[in-house]
Amino acid sequence: MKDTRQWQVDPQQATTEAVAEAVVPAAAILRQGGLVAFPTETVYGVGANALDAQAVQAIFAAKGRPADNPLIVHIADWAALTPLITGLPPLAKRLAECFWPGPLTLILPASPLVPAEVTAGLPTVAVRWPAHPVAEALIRAAGVPVAAPSANRSGKPSPTDAVHVLEDLGGRIDGIVDGGPCAVGVESTVLDVTVDPPAILRPGGITADMLRPLLPGGRLQGEGVSEQERAGEPVGDPVGEAPRAPGMKYTHYAPSADVFLLPGPWEAQVALLRRTIAAPPAGGTLGLLISEETLRELGDLLVRPESAEGVLYRSGHLIVGIVGRRGQLTTVAKKLFRALRAFDHTDAAMIVAETYPAEGIGAALMNRLCKSAGGRVWPAGNPAYNVRR
Ligand code: TXA
Ligand code: MG
Repeated sequence: MKDTRQWQVDPQQATTEAVAEAVVPAAAILRQGGLVAFPTETVYGVGANALDAQAVQAIFAAKGRPADNPLIVHIADWAALTPLITGLPPLAKRLAECFWPGPLTLILPASPLVPAEVTAGLPTVAVRWPAHPVAEALIRAAGVPVAAPSANRSGKPSPTDAVHVLEDLGGRIDGIVDGGPCAVGVESTVLDVTVDPPAILRPGGITADMLRPLLPGGRLQGEGVSEQERAGEPVGDPVGEAPRAPGMKYTHYAPSADVFLLPGPWEAQVALLRRTIAAPPAGGTLGLLISEETLRELGDLLVRPESAEGVLYRSGHLIVGIVGRRGQLTTVAKKLFRALRAFDHTDAAMIVAETYPAEGIGAALMNRLCKSAGGRVWPAGNPAYNVRR
């Protein structure tokens, strides 16, 4: 067991100088080959010096991450990019200039300086400049590029708060810089610009609609969402489908309870929820993961929380998790992982989750929800029901 040190810094309150000072000890640990978790605008990452193969190996050990899943290298100035890659195509330069700092990861040709532990032996490297004052200050103070996956145990929902990192990696890493909750709540968009047209390997904070105006002819491959995800009919097998980003083939974002997705348009989902609440399934406590609009629709069936604090509450035998507003999917993205994690502190055996149109940030949402459900669709008697672990 390691002694995991913790530092607190509130980027809303602290001056730039105070943030820079707060990250000094954490930066020193990174420089010495240690592991430090830190906030970004998307989720918390757990970082190591990207040029130190041994330090990078320690990340895989701490997370229990398969070695064939490459890491994103985080930078906080343009000069740090050059040594990591063999060249910056004009399109990649334009995209970086437009979206960095921000939740866009670019897949670029890797220079020999980048250890194979980071790239999982691929000829490419994933790079991003996070838009978070603490992340930027930490990377700059460390003076090295920082390889950082999301700071969760492999397979679990990504952490959007320092306490989630502590739950998963406390005693396994050297320190956590607590900078409060993350704003976006889902990870960065991973865009491969080594192929033509560019391909979204993982949908995220920067949407296809935001990217398209910058691409020649507005052309984009894939968009990182399967047809089922797009149609809101998650009956496919996201676990078995050909992986886009190497990491996408593994079980992901899964709480302890089995997650099931509600199929079809919203009205049908609400109707199915009504039937489910009226006749809950046997086999353990049922959790619902729904939007505020759906809670309102079901107001006659569900007890409303007395206070809006916390993401979960009990209504009779049910545990209800509220994730933002359907009408504004960024609010759902922000709370999704937090709510999935909160269910781990309850006795919920099944979580029935509302689904959303896979448009804009909804693409990232549906991608994460489908992975979290591993292809399971509600109700369990449905012929589309499959158990995948
Ligand atoms: O928002 C984020 O991206 C967060 C924060 C911490 O920056 N990081 C994150 O890292 O989500 P991670 O390791 O959980 O996800 C990285 C994804 C994986 O799906 C991985 O397979 C993919 O990026 N990836 C990394 N390097 C790649 C490469 N060279 N080619 C293709 N995919 C790559
Ligand atoms: Mg991850």
